[in-house]
Amino acid sequence: SSPLRLGIAGLGTVGAGVIRLLETNADLITARAGRPLKVVAVSARDRTRDRGVNVSGLRWYDNAVDLVTDPEVDVVVELIGGAEGPARALVEAALQAGKPVVTANKALLAIHGPALAQVSAEKSAPLLFEAAVAGGIPAIKTVREGLAADRLLRIGGILNGTCNYILTVMRETGKDFGSVLADAQQLGYAEADPSTDIDGLDAAHKLTILAGLAFGRPVAFDSVHVEGIRRIGAADLSFARKLGYRIKLLGLARVGDAGLEARVTPCLVPEDAPIAQVDGVFNAVVAEGAFAGRLMIEGRGAGAGPTASAVTADLIDIARGSHIPVWGVQVSDMQPVRACPLS
Ligand code: HSE
Repeated sequence: SSPLRLGIAGLGTVGAGVIRLLETNADLITARAGRPLKVVAVSARDRTRDRGVNVSGLRWYDNAVDLVTDPEVDVVVELIGGAEGPARALVEAALQAGKPVVTANKALLAIHGPALAQVSAEKSAPLLFEAAVAGGIPAIKTVREGLAADRLLRIGGILNGTCNYILTVMRETGKDFGSVLADAQQLGYAEADPSTDIDGLDAAHKLTILAGLAFGRPVAFDSVHVEGIRRIGAADLSFARKLGYRIKLLGLARVGDAGLEARVTPCLVPEDAPIAQVDGVFNAVVAEGAFAGRLMIEGRGAGAGPTASAVTADLIDIARGSHIPVWGVQVSDMQPVRACPLS
């Protein structure tokens, strides 16, 4: 049958990873999607850079938003990043035009998710974002589909691969913060501006998305309490170790007596706790449901392969028509709920 034609905006680590995955696994993806997935157009700043993938023969746009008006682009894949600017303009324009969107953009979803969900519903244009939370872990599917029958009591986990990598390598090797951060950037884990990672904002974006899905209402990003790992030094890590603990940057949300609590903070966790064993670029998503009980899923939270895997799973959902609404149900005009201040 006819291919599902893709327009990809952003050819960084993740964009190139998606092209590579579509090539490498073409046969199995076609079988599972019921039709081939074919990249027909791209938009990226530098046409000449060697990305290790073949982009010849693709239509190339300088302005990402032009992918929307290309009549041969069936689905827009937004991998530019950032809550504003071209990424936001592209996603809004595509949904308004009724075109499905797949994005890895956690900042965009955390801040503008409610408004975008509304356009997605009004225009019947799917908006899928599995890659926005915890890279290769199917976190969105787990919360929205796997736990669809349950009332969730808590959600969260280790949600930033860069921070977990830095804390792990500093603990294991005694290397200093700056050199480990440089390694994380080299490995393609860190955001374009790595302060987004180390100040906890990236984890807070992901927690905002997860909590919204888990509790069935969008969460106001600016109400989430956020602390990063900038102030953690070698001495903290070694004191923690002497006391039998590890330091992890955790994002946790739950509905308590005072309402929604949502925070990202460095935490001491006992070294024999399962989440303490989640090291390096690995993330862990933990949840507790009234019926399902507690669960934890661990996997690679950043990098080309894991993130491309999540993006492409969304594309397969669109190809076979098995996508579901942003909040799992159709809702209209839902005001984000604010987390209460930390007591
Ligand atoms: N910079 C992010 C991280 C990438 O380190 O987790 C994945 O969202």
